[in-house]
Amino acid sequence: MKPTTELQKPIIKTELPGPLAREIIAEDAKYVTPSYPRPDYKLVAEKASGVWIEDPDGNIFLDCNAGVAVCSTGHCHPEIVEAITKQAQTLLHLCGTVFYYNQMPELGKKLSEICPIEGETKTHFANSGAEAIETALKLAMYHTRRQKFISFFGSFHGRTLGALSLTSSKKAQRLGFMRQALDVVHVPYPNKFRHFADDLPCDEEKVSRDVINWIENRLFKTTTPPEEVAGIILEVVQGEGGYVPAPKSFVKELRRICDENGIMLIVDEVQSGMGRTGKMFALDHHEGVKADIMCLAKGIGSGLPIGACVARADVMDWHKGAHASTFGGNPVCIAAALKTIELLENGLVENSREVGAYLEEGLNKLKEKFEVIGDVRGFGMMLGVEFVADKETLKPAPELRDRIEMECFNRGLIILGCGTSTIRWSPPLILTRENVDVALEIFDEAIAGSI
Ligand SMILES: Cc1ncc(COP(=O)(O)O)c(C=O)c1O
Repeated sequence: MKPTTELQKPIIKTELPGPLAREIIAEDAKYVTPSYPRPDYKLVAEKASGVWIEDPDGNIFLDCNAGVAVCSTGHCHPEIVEAITKQAQTLLHLCGTVFYYNQMPELGKKLSEICPIEGETKTHFANSGAEAIETALKLAMYHTRRQKFISFFGSFHGRTLGALSLTSSKKAQRLGFMRQALDVVHVPYPNKFRHFADDLPCDEEKVSRDVINWIENRLFKTTTPPEEVAGIILEVVQGEGGYVPAPKSFVKELRRICDENGIMLIVDEVQSGMGRTGKMFALDHHEGVKADIMCLAKGIGSGLPIGACVARADVMDWHKGAHASTFGGNPVCIAAALKTIELLENGLVENSREVGAYLEEGLNKLKEKFEVIGDVRGFGMMLGVEFVADKETLKPAPELRDRIEMECFNRGLIILGCGTSTIRWSPPLILTRENVDVALEIFDEAIAGSI
């Protein structure tokens, strides 16, 4: 496969999926769980480089999803591959929860420097986003000696039993699992494009006030006394729920509520973190607001499985044996994370901000052109495009969204839906303006071909 700089456009040379891809899909149907939430289109990857993915039939796709916001530095970035290879030749594993190696404190120190948390921090290492969330939940319960949590409708925090108690972006996630493991109450997310009362746009100050009022004057005075709440779990930009940013005043008010009531503010940056929003973390867009506990995964390892729960050092006060993981903080994964952060700090966060703004500008032009684009939102390279029936009723258009997703695939562009009728843009942070021009041209054609 040619490198990014030489290959300007996707190349589709077979029907999709092609014959070799179809064989893999058939084997997958036979031997792999049917529970994975795969989209209608079927992409089979054989290799990938930069922003390009090649399937077994030789078709080449432009990737604007990055393995669901994971391949932050692009596919197989040579410096990441080098760092992993070097580490793999030196030390593959030693169970950092029992023994010691340098990589764990090194990454812990780096996270302490970059995470928007007041003062010193400590880090617990895990293997995934859901595991980082489980850690945060246990830690908040332990530290506060409380059991209740507040989560948001539309949120996604993972599918393990503790995380599932928080998750609420789709019915399929809980269907069949009945009562939940944890005592969680859900409140509306402050979405200014769809106020929870009528599904219609409103002033962001209004929706912020309404949700804060709901928490303080309904929940706290009835079912959920604040002195029993261990934590409030917030995605500063809601991911699976539709790429919806929380208003500034809302995040500030939530911090106030937590401070006044001894509640942990747990910020889930699994999807929004690591440069995706054009700053290192989405919370960095909210000056002066700090988290008590943060959850990281996805983009931190450029594709290697690593999760981290970073907390105020005085909050991570649990006893020896309270929480640990055999593989969490694997040295090869940490080598990938350290190199990822270095690459982010040396230009990719800036590229996410600049090229992301260029992409946003292009998407806004398409919004003017097409009656069916209701909203374009987000920051950096975390952008959502919400499709509607028309600009008057703003009724969600999920089938249209799915058709557009498929039309993009057929033309060699990989994007993915989220929320009810939104398409998310979460490309590798190395995306160039030229890549954006190609992607927008395909997106434009796909929309025109779907309405
Ligand atoms: C915000 C957020 N939190 C947690 C998770 C769960 O991460 P994982 O799938 O690695 O368990 C996800 C995954 O999409 C996520 O987007």
